[in-house]
Amino acid sequence: MDRYLVFGHPVRHSKSPFIHTLFARQTQQELEYGLAEPAVDEFAQALRTFFDQGGKGCNVTVPFKEQAFTLVDCLSPRAKRAGAVNTIKLTDDGVLLGDNTDGAGLVADLKSHGVTLADSRILLLGAGGAARGALAPLLAELPSELVIANRTHTKAQQLAAEFHDLGPVTAQTYEQLAGPFDLVINSTSASLQGELPPLAPALIHTDIAIYDMMYGASDTAFISWAKQHGARQTMDGLGMLVEQAAEAFTVWRGIRPGTKQVLRELKRNLGVI
Ligand code: ATR
Repeated sequence: MDRYLVFGHPVRHSKSPFIHTLFARQTQQELEYGLAEPAVDEFAQALRTFFDQGGKGCNVTVPFKEQAFTLVDCLSPRAKRAGAVNTIKLTDDGVLLGDNTDGAGLVADLKSHGVTLADSRILLLGAGGAARGALAPLLAELPSELVIANRTHTKAQQLAAEFHDLGPVTAQTYEQLAGPFDLVINSTSASLQGELPPLAPALIHTDIAIYDMMYGASDTAFISWAKQHGARQTMDGLGMLVEQAAEAFTVWRGIRPGTKQVLRELKRNLGVI
């Protein structure tokens, strides 16, 4: 049976095996999907061993995405832009192809929620790996403006300069931000510590769409905060997780699974509904 897995550390609580097992059942593909948690300095060896032993493909998550970028034989254009790899496929020619489906997953999830990206004013919070992966797919949707704000402003400036050729992207400090924005995407890891990015409450209004790439069994700190200040449309990163997985599955198997039912089952599994 074709073997796939996700590499991460820690990875025990990953939902990827659950998601891909449902995709395989739905599309009648024979495959198994597991977990691997190598020590941080043993990822390269573990990856090699997996493919030497017949593995067909893998996902890569924190903290290995940047390292995976350097270990594959060739990169898709979107992985090259993202500077990170979350999906690896062993091609029929024996080549390890590195891809990145995170940004496509974000855009697919935003669209499935009915969020309009074309001609919109987007605020992206954070300038780490998650922000980098999202930039090209977001700019491909032709927003009127995309502003990056980050605690460490120089990192936002660097990202804006790097992606300037793809669209109207600028960097501003949190203090400089002036609304109205149509969509705010939180790519910071602040919610992990129950913290908030230092965003002025005045930027939140009833018609704004709020997206937090993080998720949990209850609202993230950022989503709770945005709701308190009047945001009516809030979304967490669970849909992005399922959509990036669907994109990876398509890369591996050449068949696109449906995501709606799988997202529902995942929510049930997490106790969200
Ligand atoms: P990831 O790969 O998930 O993006 P990362 O590369 O470590 O993780 O980036 C984390 C991002 O969250 C950074 O933009 C970080 O800001 P700094 O560049 O200033 O470190 C941001 N971040 C983390 N905690 C934050 C907080 N409490 N408030 C605001 N931003 C925060």
